[in-house]
Amino acid sequence: MAKNIILEPSRTLAEYRLLPGLSTNETKPEDISLRTPLVFSEGNKKKFYLNIPLVSAAMQSVSGTKMGIELAKLGGTAFIFCSQSIESQAKMIFKIKNHKAGFVKPRNMKPEMTISQMYKIRQQTGFSTFPVVNENDIFLGLISKWDYDISLHKDFLVKDRMISRKNIEVGINITNLLEANQILLESHKSILPILDEKGKLLYMVFRKDINDQLDNPLEVHDEKKQLLAVAAINTQDYKERIPSLAEQNVDVLSVDSSHGHSVFQKETLKWSNKNFPNIPIIGGNVITKKGFRFLVNNGAAAVKVGMGGGSICITQEQKGTGRGLATTIIEVGEERDRHFKETGKYIPVIADGGVTSTKDITIALALGADYVMMGRYFARMEESPTKKIVVNNRVMKPYWGEGSARARDWKIKRYEQAKFVEGVEGLVEYAGRLRDNLDETLAKIKSSMSTCGVKNIKELHKKAELELVSALSIREGKVHDIYQGAEGNNSENETTN
Ligand code: IMP
Repeated sequence: MAKNIILEPSRTLAEYRLLPGLSTNETKPEDISLRTPLVFSEGNKKKFYLNIPLVSAAMQSVSGTKMGIELAKLGGTAFIFCSQSIESQAKMIFKIKNHKAGFVKPRNMKPEMTISQMYKIRQQTGFSTFPVVNENDIFLGLISKWDYDISLHKDFLVKDRMISRKNIEVGINITNLLEANQILLESHKSILPILDEKGKLLYMVFRKDINDQLDNPLEVHDEKKQLLAVAAINTQDYKERIPSLAEQNVDVLSVDSSHGHSVFQKETLKWSNKNFPNIPIIGGNVITKKGFRFLVNNGAAAVKVGMGGGSICITQEQKGTGRGLATTIIEVGEERDRHFKETGKYIPVIADGGVTSTKDITIALALGADYVMMGRYFARMEESPTKKIVVNNRVMKPYWGEGSARARDWKIKRYEQAKFVEGVEGLVEYAGRLRDNLDETLAKIKSSMSTCGVKNIKELHKKAELELVSALSIREGKVHDIYQGAEGNNSENETTN
């Protein structure tokens, strides 16, 4: 006989609906704050907040450098995946921490290259303008798509067709984007090369990027105004990995494991806190109260919860372990609140795996999550590390689980030992730029919160009223009994924004 058999089924987010509260002048969507603690911090540890309650999953097909930079600019953060070499992960953290908004490190061309050699690089990168530098990186000129015709000039040299330095407006040692913008405006140009006093090319500033870069009121950064960077680590090579990430000024670490209630995780948390006490470390994943206490008692600064719900996850099928995410959040959230009452320490809870729509995000927050981790949602964005492909006239991006055969090509002991896969590989519909998608997602979250009569996530936790709904009632909540044309009603499968 098992020690414990719970006869009440565990619940998923899709089974709940929010009841409205009293909306007031203070709960207008435009006045709602989505600020939320990333980790608990005390003493000399740094304090980190997110300005939106969303983080991207530590997965090869989701969270690379571009996602790390763009999501931090927009108020969230990417958990940079650890299923890669220590060097390449540290490099990603370096790039995020050293990113200068709007100042782009360009791909350079050499003057002696032929136009056809340059054209190949243009096709690979998609860029239309390149700076030309000599062997000492001294800026010689610019070559853009207007300067040549590939059929006429393919055997010419780049230096024969480029616009040379003397005809180009440049900025010397400029580090301020507003100043660069001013020069671009005055010179009626769209590109500004930034050089040092010796003429060495440092960066390029593109007018088309400037508005995006200047307009990021929600950006999350450290006390030096460098973008926030979070890195996943594993329980195998952490003694080598953490020092390398720390060297690149990583702000927060997160132990990446589908089963966090383990002595391996305890050892990792303890070692990290002992050797790097100023870098908060997130533990996970757990799905029980006991698991939460275990991680917190061993030094977790936040706890990630969820098992078996991810869109690419087959853990429940393969191993029979897991729990509905709603039940997990309720259970662990209760324990977090109890722990807070006992100790005064508030440990954020992150809901992870199977959050497929905006209503899921709001319901996860209302049930008690402090923020939400998503893989599939972010994998669809321009900024995820994968390449777009066209399948049956639809633009798609590949998405695969960290426990899939594809991810395991990355060899570490853990995966070499595994005899079976826990994740699959598939495609997700390309959704465009993160910035545009987040606009809509955040507007929907704020609108629900406004209907619930709350002005921030803390109030949502206190005041939200939720109700379980029947399958029939879920059906009624979708479009029904009307004809929607040849495409039909696809709301049954609505899983995007
Ligand atoms: P999604 O947002 O539903 O796509 O779920 C993403 C989450 O699934 C990740 O943050 C991980 O917690 C989990 N996950 C990632 N890879 C795998 C896998 O291969 N098997 C099971 N779960 C996975």
